[in-house]
Amino acid sequence: MAPSDTISFARGAPSLDIVDVDGLRDSAVAAFTNDPGGVTGYGTSIGYPPLRRWIAEQHSVDEAQVLVTNGSMQADAFLFATLVSAGDAVVVEKPTYDRTLLNLRSLGADVRMVSLQTDGIDVDELAALLESGLKPKLVHIIPNFQNPAGYTLSLDKRRALLTLAAEHDFVIFEDDPYRHIRFSGEDIATMIEMDDSDKVVYASSFSKTVCPGIRVGYLVGPKPLIAQIQKLATNTYISPSMVSQSIVHEFCVSGRIDSSIATVKAALADRVEALDAALQTHLPDARYTLPEGGYFMWVELPEDTDVDALFDAANERGVAFVKGPDFLLEGGRNTLRLAYSGVTADRIDEGIARLADAYRSVTGAPATA
Ligand SMILES: Cc1ncc(COP(=O)(O)O)c(C=O)c1O
Repeated sequence: MAPSDTISFARGAPSLDIVDVDGLRDSAVAAFTNDPGGVTGYGTSIGYPPLRRWIAEQHSVDEAQVLVTNGSMQADAFLFATLVSAGDAVVVEKPTYDRTLLNLRSLGADVRMVSLQTDGIDVDELAALLESGLKPKLVHIIPNFQNPAGYTLSLDKRRALLTLAAEHDFVIFEDDPYRHIRFSGEDIATMIEMDDSDKVVYASSFSKTVCPGIRVGYLVGPKPLIAQIQKLATNTYISPSMVSQSIVHEFCVSGRIDSSIATVKAALADRVEALDAALQTHLPDARYTLPEGGYFMWVELPEDTDVDALFDAANERGVAFVKGPDFLLEGGRNTLRLAYSGVTADRIDEGIARLADAYRSVTGAPATA
């Protein structure tokens, strides 16, 4: 029977200790005090206007280019529903975020996966696909600390993608909720900042910088497209949650967001260090690249490892992860995603020791010294 204290590397969500609950409480009080009408009314489908303005300033764009939604998942869904019809080709990274795959497949898109390397999508493979005649509506890219792999797209590849988008006339969907959670290395400019031909639509979220329960995300894109998506937003829900968005607004303008990001980054850096040490000690067969930020690490085990059997054995020992094949259309049977966002550093060694025990039970690998 599984131990009652399951250690979960499965969910891409923060542990409670790195959520600024006091800051959120103060921000809620400030929002209801400063703008009772704006907070409690229906508001507008483009989002809570002061937050929309704040986001536009952060991105140095016109407000009319911003739409604030209930989480960036909603932003993704609106964008896909607007641009993608059944049968349209859409390129995604291999592996990619499982919910993106589900969403695109439910729309009937012709989903094509292009290999992900440690410095981002394989642009040569993409170029060859385009040369062969594929005309994608959209190329979905998670540029920083990718979900599920944790890899980051290099500056050169960002430039190469923009060139390909201009040549082959497709939209780059830059899905970027993790950018601000960088704990080592240098920040890299976003593609939307570098784009001069309106080929990029950008999405981000406050799930990783404030908290996921607040459900606030947003899109930045060309004005006509944002106006079109605004109509869909109005028809879908009249308006997103003004209560949530006004709290996020207060959290941002009071500067609490900066201390929240600092807390998250420091904790996640410690966790990656602990994870690396634990894998080296208990599971030396694991192959991985250490992420410079974000929530996730991709682990490859020897070719003949059966991740389904490993998953069940891990479950029996009270440790959870997501199987690699969930992020792929096929293959990946020897891979898995470890999310360290929800596991405090003091539990990581125990979690990986359990995983290693599960691995030995399914592969017969010897115990480490
Ligand atoms: C790449 C990516 N896009 C979008 C989302 C959805 O985020 P939100 O909580 O803002 O809906 C996630 C969440 O994990 C994600 O990893």
